[in-house]
Amino acid sequence: MCLSFARSLRISLCDLCVLCVSALIFLVAPAAAGDAQRGRVVFALAGGCGCHSGKDGPVGAGGEEIKTPFGSFYGSNITPDPDTGIGGWSDDEIIAAIRTGDARGGVEAPVMPYYLYVGMADRDVEDLVAYLRTLPPVRRENRAAEVSVPFPRLAYRAWRLLFAPGGVAPSEAPTDPLPRGRYLANHVSICTDCHTPRTRFGAPDTSLYLAGTDSGPGGQTVPNITPDRDTGLGTWTEKDIVRLLHTGMKPDMDNVQGLMGAVIDGVGGGPGYAEAPESELRSIAKYLKTVPPIRHKVSGD
Ligand code: HEC
Repeated sequence: MCLSFARSLRISLCDLCVLCVSALIFLVAPAAAGDAQRGRVVFALAGGCGCHSGKDGPVGAGGEEIKTPFGSFYGSNITPDPDTGIGGWSDDEIIAAIRTGDARGGVEAPVMPYYLYVGMADRDVEDLVAYLRTLPPVRRENRAAEVSVPFPRLAYRAWRLLFAPGGVAPSEAPTDPLPRGRYLANHVSICTDCHTPRTRFGAPDTSLYLAGTDSGPGGQTVPNITPDRDTGLGTWTEKDIVRLLHTGMKPDMDNVQGLMGAVIDGVGGGPGYAEAPESELRSIAKYLKTVPPIRHKVSGD
């Protein structure tokens, strides 16, 4: 009787230990506040955060070279590996890196478009972080940038001060199609980051908003996607734009390549625009038809 009591006590003590340890892990491990499933959609709408993955994956484990006039950069490891990724970062730290450019190593280079993600709604960025925490952790050291700017960290801080507009993100993203399309194009899917030319300081030239450039990221030509009839998408219907974002196919049955292909298909096996709900792509297309048409010819036209 006594023995069996002791035995059962031992078992329950053991159970208690297991319970304590799991409670401890729960308390110590950074708890993601967001919804990872919704976060996967945000990730897809963000073109699969493609700079952070190599062509052959793994997703988020660090990207290929990004050539800029200021040097070469490599997207960092955003998998939850505790040593080489963001596994040891709190949600707030990850959100700061995404929206304000404040990372553990100092202010980020503006190759990371934090100046656009600054407007990403609280809920979307929280869900995105929850999704990032579900990626398989990959141990891979970040590759240092090869920059041609003296005192780069100071330069990035100064750049942020001069060119990052700041602002306050909404707690929830707009839901009506037109404002939602504007929100996605500017703050999540960041069409503007590639399709708007940059000044010699690397800041977006807002007078040519979405009007394309011959010297886009990686030196690629990026087309004018304003509704200008001759040099932009004036003859495309909303459906044409949705089809392009969904399949990569243009109205003339040609396929987009390069960076546009990457944001549509996703990089390294992760989701891209193609996997985003069609209603979201419709909102983007609707908004694009309303931006001011700008006559601006790029060489690909
Ligand atoms: C990472 C850079 C990048 C991002 C982000 C990006 N694009 Fe593109 N886009 C390109 C490039 C480069 C091309 C040219 C591809 C080609 O020539 O095959 C292109 C082509 C296009 C075209 C074809 C236009 C034409 O005249 O052929 C459309 C439409 C388009 N993008 C719309 C968008 C929209 C809408 C978004 C946001 C939801 C977006 N893009 C985000 C780089 C980007």
